[in-house]
Amino acid sequence: MDTITPAQLDTGWTPTSWRNRPIRQVPAYPNAERLAAVEAEIAGLPPLVFAGEARRLKAQLARAASGQAFVLQGGDCAESFGDFTSSIIRDTFRVLLQMAVVLTFGSGVPVVKLGRMAGQYAKPRSSDTETIGGETLPSYRGDIINGPDFTAEARIPDPARMEFGYFQSAGTLNLLRALASGGYADLHEVHRWNLDFVEKSPLGARYRDLAARIDETLGFMGACGLNSVTAPQIRETDFYTSHEALLLPYEQALTRLDKTTGQHYALSAHFLWIGDRTRQADGAHVEYMRGIKNPIGMKVGPSMQEDDLLHLLDILDPQNEPGRLTLISRMGAEKVADKLPPLLRAVKRAGRTPVWLCDPMHGNTISTAAKVKTRRFDAILTELRGFFDAHAAEGTVAGGAHMEMTGQDVTECVGGARGLSEEDLGNRYATFCDPRLNAEQSLELAFYLAEELKLRRLAKAAA
Ligand code: PEP
Ligand code: CO
Repeated sequence: MDTITPAQLDTGWTPTSWRNRPIRQVPAYPNAERLAAVEAEIAGLPPLVFAGEARRLKAQLARAASGQAFVLQGGDCAESFGDFTSSIIRDTFRVLLQMAVVLTFGSGVPVVKLGRMAGQYAKPRSSDTETIGGETLPSYRGDIINGPDFTAEARIPDPARMEFGYFQSAGTLNLLRALASGGYADLHEVHRWNLDFVEKSPLGARYRDLAARIDETLGFMGACGLNSVTAPQIRETDFYTSHEALLLPYEQALTRLDKTTGQHYALSAHFLWIGDRTRQADGAHVEYMRGIKNPIGMKVGPSMQEDDLLHLLDILDPQNEPGRLTLISRMGAEKVADKLPPLLRAVKRAGRTPVWLCDPMHGNTISTAAKVKTRRFDAILTELRGFFDAHAAEGTVAGGAHMEMTGQDVTECVGGARGLSEEDLGNRYATFCDPRLNAEQSLELAFYLAEELKLRRLAKAAA
């Protein structure tokens, strides 16, 4: 067991102190000894990331808090063990890079790229059980806990899945690191893929101008001698991983004391967040998160009250450290204009400067007449617009966007340039949890956002 530092003795936090708090969304493991054995096993394995990387991300997020960077966080709602192939990982990574290039151009600032990848395996559920055709079974809670098949056996939480999740995260992360630094992420390549998108998208003409200007800029930089050989920034990129810190036994097993700083870091990913269902101030998840030194996030849904938010900020970020805390607003297109501004005001009045991201996905999940979960592309855009409007009105910084998306050509969200309809959803509906934007819809959204960011930037400069 790692040693406990004097500072921790003061605050009462230890990597295990969450165990004394009320906990929600907890899987009913049938065999406590097996669970403890797997936890001990993982605690002896190497960490997946290095604390110095988490600190580097924190510094980049600090820049986003003051408007000098823009955050793009995206990936699956739930990664699945079955989707562990090089093409699925690479395609999501590629689309995130494509989005980032467009957003860099629109925002005029660096884009911090944060995948919901290499560990996004645990899911909070609104109900503990699921009923199909009269049969009721425990809900699927993500591949790191139980199986998605609707059978009693698959739904039993199995601790062995935790260890499997660790190795699968390691494999995914290894590929992501190779792609980010091995030449695949070269800016010229990424831009070439975007030109291809503009050529093929039904709404491509609308984005041709922006793509042409990026083209010109790259040409100009090349003429000045900045190319893939001379400038590593063109050849390589920083890419960070994140997931919801839901399965605390797993997170605790990968919490390590960093010898450089004498502080504890969660080394299962660079960035962890608290979901909207587990953010109780006196609960286990908040207790765990307050003690780790990584940059962390918290979802902020429409039920969040101003006082509760300020109280949570005091617990999670008592020193108001730049880059420490990212608040991920997920209000829904219809509520964002009412619910977000009072929170922005309260946080600003308290002298706090978290990063604010917009998650325009989780407040906009609907069910079709055929009971298929989907999201409307228009509602996603409306929430994003509402988020930017609220920040402009309150004089706060809109720090970035958080998407559920994939690099695959799935049919899970309706709308977008191809006008996917509810009837199309059955074609390629592959998600294990929430509906994701497909590759084309994701890029379309990035082009839209880039235009919006640019217009707002110009309007601000002119004011
Ligand atoms: C999620 O991000 O997949 C999620 C469950 O979100 P929320 O906690 O905001 O509902
Ligand atoms: Co989701």
